[in-house]
Amino acid sequence: MPEPVFAGLAPAPPDSILGLTEAFRADPRPGRISLAAGIYQDETGRTPVLASVAEAERRMLTAGAAKTYKPIGGEPSYTGPVRALVFGDDHPALVDGRAETLHTPGGTGALRVAADLVHRLSPGAAVWLSRPTWPNHPQVFEAAGLPVRWYPYLDEGGSRLDLDGMLTALAGAAPGDVVVVHACCHNPTGTDLPADAWGRLAAVVADRGLLPLVDFAYQGFGDGLDEDASGVQALAAEGVTALVASSMSKNFALYSERVGALSIVGATREEAAALASHAKVAVRANYSNPPGHGGEIVATVLGDPALRAQWVDEVAVMRDRINGNRARFVAQLVADGVAGGPDALLDADALLRQRGMFSLLGLSAGQVARLRDEFAVYVVAGGRINVAGLTAANLEPACAAIAAVFAKG
Ligand code: LMR
Repeated sequence: MPEPVFAGLAPAPPDSILGLTEAFRADPRPGRISLAAGIYQDETGRTPVLASVAEAERRMLTAGAAKTYKPIGGEPSYTGPVRALVFGDDHPALVDGRAETLHTPGGTGALRVAADLVHRLSPGAAVWLSRPTWPNHPQVFEAAGLPVRWYPYLDEGGSRLDLDGMLTALAGAAPGDVVVVHACCHNPTGTDLPADAWGRLAAVVADRGLLPLVDFAYQGFGDGLDEDASGVQALAAEGVTALVASSMSKNFALYSERVGALSIVGATREEAAALASHAKVAVRANYSNPPGHGGEIVATVLGDPALRAQWVDEVAVMRDRINGNRARFVAQLVADGVAGGPDALLDADALLRQRGMFSLLGLSAGQVARLRDEFAVYVVAGGRINVAGLTAANLEPACAAIAAVFAKG
């Protein structure tokens, strides 16, 4: 019997977000509550297939298009409308032909293509991430061979943006380094850059010769499809070179179809085209060309005025439910004595200002473990709550469990 090639190999730890979904599914306790992975759910706990998406799929089935390879960067019928969704039709970068878009497998795929592109062109570059950030960010960039550095994001109290601290740290970044910022609905804090921060960020980026990479996973889930894009659009209007990783997982509820895009804004049209050509080499060496189905759905919806209008309404329904849930969540935490004015354990006003799917409560690792082990409530490290997972049925028990773990320290 030969020795196993990987004899003695210890298993890798479970993923800090998707691993919780697996643990939740295996948990036999009745009444268990998952507020972990960022997946939208309706009041019945279901993740709906949007009516606009179902209609697009019906039309696609009827049309019966062949399933040949896509172009490496995707079809213009997808990349064009997605680029316009991110930047707006009249944005100077589009008018000047300085923006290119590639269809990628999800927002995570866009981040990885961006990472491979940077490693190919600037192998010595580091990637600066907000502390805290989405737990998958560091491993995506490190997997591409890029070292990670951190900039502060929240103040010591953990509930307000520390913009000065962030920009001071970034002023120490080396030319060519990448700065990852969240366009809206910051994951995990829900605390976004205000409108006037984007110009200040652009000034630091231009001064230091940095490359901004904007993670845009939640367009439409904060204040609106256009409103959520205002920061990206302001940055791109400054004439800096920038990358934008978009996801259609959330706003089209196409999680399993893996639909995303990498947009490349060049300081010049030539720079954008050259960067896109190198990004295509990175794609070809990775997954070759993008999967078809999800992108065709998005192209069908965005390309038909009536379907598009229906989709815009459906995004508004999801956003309104999330914002309503946040208000109910905070009201329940106040009723349970956990949140209140600035002197309470949690600042209710700060929680209410958060945007998007997540609310960050600042729980210790022990409190998060107790929520899971004693109360069968699953949340992500730090106490990141997916407020879209709250329903009339689980709101009170979830908040009671949170109050209990706070009470026990
Ligand atoms: C999340 O942060 O929960 C989502 O973006 C899902 C994921 O891939 O981690």
